Amino acid sequence: MTGNTPTKTFPIHDALEARRSPRAYSAKAELTPEQVGPLFEAARWAASSGNSQPWSFVVGFRGDEVFSTILGTLASGNALWAEHASALVANIARTHTEEGKALFHAWYDVGQAVAHLSVQATVEGILVHQMAGFDAEALGVALGLDDHHRVVTVMTLGLQGDVSDLPENLQERERAPRVRRPLGQSVSGSANYA
Ligand SMILES: Cc1cc2nc3c(=O)[nH]c(=O)nc-3n(C[C@H](O)[C@H](O)[C@H](O)COP(=O)(O)O)c2cc1C
Repeated sequence: MTGNTPTKTFPIHDALEARRSPRAYSAKAELTPEQVGPLFEAARWAASSGNSQPWSFVVGFRGDEVFSTILGTLASGNALWAEHASALVANIARTHTEEGKALFHAWYDVGQAVAHLSVQATVEGILVHQMAGFDAEALGVALGLDDHHRVVTVMTLGLQGDVSDLPENLQERERAPRVRRPLGQSVSGSANYA
């Protein structure tokens, strides 16, 4: 861990503090379905609107077809570091029920499941980096999704690599302190942390 988390008003759990979105992945490290299993188990136990559980995940390991398919839809600025990760995952929302009723909180629920997953990953020593920089339309088609499903984000899973292997500008971003608004700017009402 880089230990560059900003000052906090209150202490938080180690796993929440250590979670971060890295770009330096070990291109040699491999992950197995067993190793990433606890991550998806953690996602499975997330809360969701009406217990609709509108998430699903398509996983590719480096070298396989699913990985190449997801990689091919990434924005170039993401692909250049994400290609070294051990796995790429498409995080998918079911946006409508079988009967065509909209699941209004589906994206919220997928985000919450991925948040669970990313904290469990931190505990397991696996690094996660979520991305919106990809072609969702093209990936949906490549994965054969119907009109009731949509790729919300993609993410890397992998192990820490050498930061000095990254291009200079990305090395700077890796080493930069993590930045957050003061707590008082996000919380109001009867809880005042200004
Ligand atoms: C929905 C979402 C989309 C994101 N898209 C990208 C992306 O396309 N490329 C990227 O490098 N990081 C992306 N990130 C990572 C954020 O930049 C990162 O979470 C944020 O800067 C805070 O840093 P931290 O996760 O290390 O605390 C995304 C994160 C989320 C949650």
